Amino acid sequence: MVAYPNILKYAFIALVAGILIIVAVSYQFNIKAFESSIIYESDTPSFGLQHGALRSDKIPFHSHSEEKPFGTYLQQTLEFKPFQGLFTAVNATAGVALQSRGEAHVTVVSPPEFDYVLKPAGVTIREIEAIAINANIQAARLKPVCLGRFNGSLPRPTSDLDEGVFMLYSLVVADDYGDLLSIRQQISRLYHEKGGEGALFQPEAFWPHVTIGYDRRDLFVEDGIYKGKNFCYARIHTEN
Ligand SMILES: *[C@@H]1O[C@H](CO)[C@@H](O)[C@H](O)[C@H]1NC(C)=O
Ligand SMILES: *[C@@H]1O[C@H](CO)[C@@H](O)[C@H](O)[C@H]1NC(C)=O
Repeated sequence: MVAYPNILKYAFIALVAGILIIVAVSYQFNIKAFESSIIYESDTPSFGLQHGALRSDKIPFHSHSEEKPFGTYLQQTLEFKPFQGLFTAVNATAGVALQSRGEAHVTVVSPPEFDYVLKPAGVTIREIEAIAINANIQAARLKPVCLGRFNGSLPRPTSDLDEGVFMLYSLVVADDYGDLLSIRQQISRLYHEKGGEGALFQPEAFWPHVTIGYDRRDLFVEDGIYKGKNFCYARIHTEN
């Protein structure tokens, strides 16, 4: 009679341990599944990213609301300095001279989304920024995924300037905690409340990245360039 509670105790401990093992194994499996869905070439290099480069909670929010086309958008501002080494290393292997933007950020609402969709529905940049600041956009948690590269011609050139080969590199990042996605979802709700057409703003149509360098100009979804995992070219490792 005295030993009985002990058996229960050990059975309970074994049960908890078993559950923990199952959780740990499936977590590992998910990470592997995520990584193995990225296809790298066998000779792909690995580029170093300075530790903490994606931490921006100490950096002030930066507003972009110029009264000109493509002058208004929402971004998470990053410090440029930790990206300089990555730019130099990427530029040295690109085979062409790349331009750097001289700053680093993650676009959360793009200029075309604002100009063509949100603004016509009556959503103001002040309202968007209020949502972002309230959600502490600068503290959004990002993880590096890979170095993305585009080296090719645009699928639908719309002018002579779009002809020929473009080279572009970005750091693809993961918004694993949904911090940025949740800002886009709140903006989407406001857009709906103002009578916006649901089909025109998709909060999940969002591929967070940091532009590293390009030869001619930056390229966007509107150019037919999708900067998700599909775009991965090289591995990224963090370094001190
Ligand atoms: C980019 O693509 C061109 C072919 O369009 C190729 O000749 C060149 O080597 C590629 N550049 C790099 C850095 O792979
Ligand atoms: C980028 O690489 C080119 C060589 O392709 C070099 O001439 C140029 O100085 C480099 N730019 C920077 C900023 O390092």
